[in-house]
Amino acid sequence: MSELGSAPAWPPAGCALVTGGSRGIGAAIARALAQEGWPVAVNYNGSAQAAAEVVSAIEAAGGRAVALQGDVADPQVPELVFAQAEERLGVPVLALVNNAGITRDNLAPSLTDEEWDAVIATNLTGAFRFTRRALKGMMRARVGRIVNIASVSALRANPGQANYAAAKAGLVQFTRTVAVEVARRGVTVNAVAPGFIATDMTSELIGPDLLAAIPARRAGNVEEVAACVRFLVSRQASYVTGAVLTVDGGLGA
Ligand SMILES: NC(=O)c1ccc[n+]([C@@H]2O[C@H](COP(=O)([O-])OP(=O)(O)OC[C@H]3O[C@@H](n4cnc5c(N)ncnc54)[C@H](OP(=O)(O)O)[C@@H]3O)[C@@H](O)[C@H]2O)c1
Repeated sequence: MSELGSAPAWPPAGCALVTGGSRGIGAAIARALAQEGWPVAVNYNGSAQAAAEVVSAIEAAGGRAVALQGDVADPQVPELVFAQAEERLGVPVLALVNNAGITRDNLAPSLTDEEWDAVIATNLTGAFRFTRRALKGMMRARVGRIVNIASVSALRANPGQANYAAAKAGLVQFTRTVAVEVARRGVTVNAVAPGFIATDMTSELIGPDLLAAIPARRAGNVEEVAACVRFLVSRQASYVTGAVLTVDGGLGA
């Protein structure tokens, strides 16, 4: 019997956790996974109202979700968020999307220690700690999906983003390494590398010059990124691991 033919129901008896699910790409991912039938824990840091609106929208569509506050850069937060997600949704976290991210752009000669440290702590170390915590339950269950939201900046130089590029490139190689470590336990680990997506993060960057450099001649939208995450979390993606899926209108091609 084929792997797909013998597979149990999907989603498995677990929930999905999306870090930075209150706004932008993360909010779209939370909605998309809820549409697939996952109960969703929507992590946020400062935007409580926006996170509550994501939860309301999921519930209005017939899904289940909870909003959980926590700064992903704080070492105590993964344990607290996982415990709350699993208690309030009643099932273990079997899908994790490390999406929370920030920029602190500056040219390298002027980049401060604070700008460097904040971006590494949030975009890279946070994803590491959430992944480490997630793997416990996933390896026990012998099923799991981890998707890390990287960036085209991990693959292609973007002046002013040395800190961000280092964090995202680190996240890409972290993804590949963990993927091979856990592949035989039924857990897949992949990255999605968006190009320029219209969100609060890029609202001041996207202009005519930038759009002209993108082969598709437009910014992406959050649903286009969420669709790729939805696939990587699906049962059909069970043999995709260690991959980096670019979603960038051809920018990195
Ligand atoms: N937009 C793009 O063009 C683009 C391109 C490539 C990659 N990305 C990546 O995609 C991800 C989402 O970006 P976006 O454009 O959707 O950004 P955004 O609109 O600025 O939203 C960022 C999200 O991350 C959360 N967040 C930030 N710091 C956090 C922390 N310390 N702890 C917990 N949550 C935190 C925010 O939550 P609160 O508001 O609740 O604090 C918010 O929900 C990021 O990893 C980003 O690097 C974006």
